Amino acid sequence: MSEKILVTSALPYANGPIHLGHLAGAYLPADIFVRYHRLNGDDVVYICGSDEHGVPIMLRARKEGVSPQEVVDRYHTVIKKSFEQFGMSFDYYGRTSSPVHYETSQDIFRMLATKDEFILKKEKQLFDPEAGIFLADRFVRGICPKCGYEDAYGDQCEKCGTSLSPSDLIEPRSAITDAVPVMKETTHWYLPLEKYQPELEQWIAGHSDWKSNVLGQIKSWFTDGLRDRAVTRDLPWGVPVPEDVARKAGVDAKGKVLYVWFDAPIGYISATREWAREKGDPELWKKYWQQHDTRLIHFIGKDNIVFHCIIFPAVLKADGRFVLPENVPANEFLNLEGDKLSTSRDYAVWLHEYLEKFEPDSLRYTLASIMPESKDADFSWKDFQARHNNELADILGNFINRTLTFVHKYFDGKTPAASVFTAEDEQLIARIKEAPQKLGALIDRHQYKNYVREAMDLARAANKYFNDRAPWKTRKEDPEACATTLNICLQTTYALSVLLDPVLPFTGRKIRARLNMDNTIHWNSAADMPLKAGHVIDKPEIIFRKIEDSAIEPEIERLQKNKQGNTVTSSAAPVKDEITIDDFQKLDLRTARVLKAERVPKTDKLVRLEVEVGEEIRTIVSGIAHHYDVGELIGRTIIIIANLKPVKLRGIESRGMLLTAEHDGTLSLLTTMGAMPSGSSIA
Ligand code: 2FM
Ligand code: ZN
Repeated sequence: MSEKILVTSALPYANGPIHLGHLAGAYLPADIFVRYHRLNGDDVVYICGSDEHGVPIMLRARKEGVSPQEVVDRYHTVIKKSFEQFGMSFDYYGRTSSPVHYETSQDIFRMLATKDEFILKKEKQLFDPEAGIFLADRFVRGICPKCGYEDAYGDQCEKCGTSLSPSDLIEPRSAITDAVPVMKETTHWYLPLEKYQPELEQWIAGHSDWKSNVLGQIKSWFTDGLRDRAVTRDLPWGVPVPEDVARKAGVDAKGKVLYVWFDAPIGYISATREWAREKGDPELWKKYWQQHDTRLIHFIGKDNIVFHCIIFPAVLKADGRFVLPENVPANEFLNLEGDKLSTSRDYAVWLHEYLEKFEPDSLRYTLASIMPESKDADFSWKDFQARHNNELADILGNFINRTLTFVHKYFDGKTPAASVFTAEDEQLIARIKEAPQKLGALIDRHQYKNYVREAMDLARAANKYFNDRAPWKTRKEDPEACATTLNICLQTTYALSVLLDPVLPFTGRKIRARLNMDNTIHWNSAADMPLKAGHVIDKPEIIFRKIEDSAIEPEIERLQKNKQGNTVTSSAAPVKDEITIDDFQKLDLRTARVLKAERVPKTDKLVRLEVEVGEEIRTIVSGIAHHYDVGELIGRTIIIIANLKPVKLRGIESRGMLLTAEHDGTLSLLTTMGAMPSGSSIA
């Protein structure tokens, strides 16, 4: 019977392009699952979109000196395009800055408020006195109370993974201005997770079939005890808190938005609404979100487990109008050449760059073969090359090529008729017959690695069959046996094109084109042996060209360079001649606060800064344009030499010099560790 399945993949943040870690976690397994179910005739809707709110996006916008909308517009386009080229078969790819999304998330927030589900809490929170904003989540950094890591974020320590609140941090400082924050009172809406815990535990107990890595994480959250979570923030970017709700609560809604992790998963619902509208049936989304026979499945990476298995279900339950997930098959992480992926160090393989050089199916195949289903996995370019060359080209490609070549050479390009089957024939046929059920079950149980291995084993068996049946011999000795062999090889080729279609959609289509077979296929038709005697097939063409060492070497080098480039090496310049303390004291070093920064027109490197040094405002021209965006300089407290003789640079008088640290061409401005008034002297 046809099933109704609603599938979602985590909405990627629109503040950077997609990399291989994303694909192996939340996207490729979902796409395989969806493609299989569609071929199986199920009623599937597959939803994704860009997650366009949250502090990291704002930080990026500040760094680049542009608006958050500009950032998300740019990355939404890049991400959407690379997903398409990779063969992601979303039915709809939305974005959380859309009006439908604002309306949907405000509606759900309002519903929870009306049902009196929230707790309103007035409390003191960290506030940046220089930038004049509350320091939510990643706007604040400090020392992790758990592991002592010095650069932990206000919502999470990246080193030990502990989830944090800004007030948990030791020695907090603003990620915007580096200022030491002050405490300021504010009011927020909280989701009472502590109260919900027993009900959530009961719900999870009914899902003992979930993956053990997922259940393990959920259990540890329960053991620690759920804490109430604020679902609103004081930020200038996000879905505004509905004014009517705020008014009723006696709170000023101005400057308050929904927390990104409150609105983002609701993006699944809003994108489904937009999909339904686009189909001309605006109510259709309800069939998937509001009827209880829907199988809702969220594909995510392990860092999203708490949000999809505890917080979002709690919201859905409290609202009461929606189905809850049937499963959340979260994957673990993908490492790269034995090291942790790091986007900030550019230690990643970016999808859009990969697609400029290689075929999508080679990556789909490799990632599915090594998928981090139950533990972290490692991607290496050598392994990628080996899988492409030794499996896709030498096993699958070779079998198809020799079959089609033989049929063209000796059967005039027409499917030969099969006659009496030998035991070997029967054996391969039996494998084809059982394959759809067997492989389908693996996909349905989220065992993608096993599915791919089984499918490739079938191609392996087919190659062996071709060798064992030796049609080049039987052609003369036993032409009927030869015809039967080639008939079975062609049927197997067809079967492989269908069975591998979920993981290799571009190849599946190509193979069927060679076979002159319709591309509207059904999963079970893999077992039908549908090529009739006399059916004309196309000439073979090489499906997989070998990947040479020269193609992957630059990729490996780039990663190695990025890895090394970020470890401090000992190539520091030699120490200069000795000086006395009197020499040093001739320098008047001062703190200065950057008020303005702009590029000097028609120059490559120069930036004109206006800095405050105590009471005085001065202009300094500095050659740092290659190293900093002007936007990120503003508000910084830097160190200058205040008594350097003024010089004219491009007609501008520069009164002072900024201090910077330099290493191998990388420059870093010296700043103070805590907040200091400008003009403070340095000794
Ligand atoms: O971790 C992330 O990349 C988030 N943007 C995932 C959001 S998933 C869903 F809730 F939208
Ligand atoms: Zn830590």
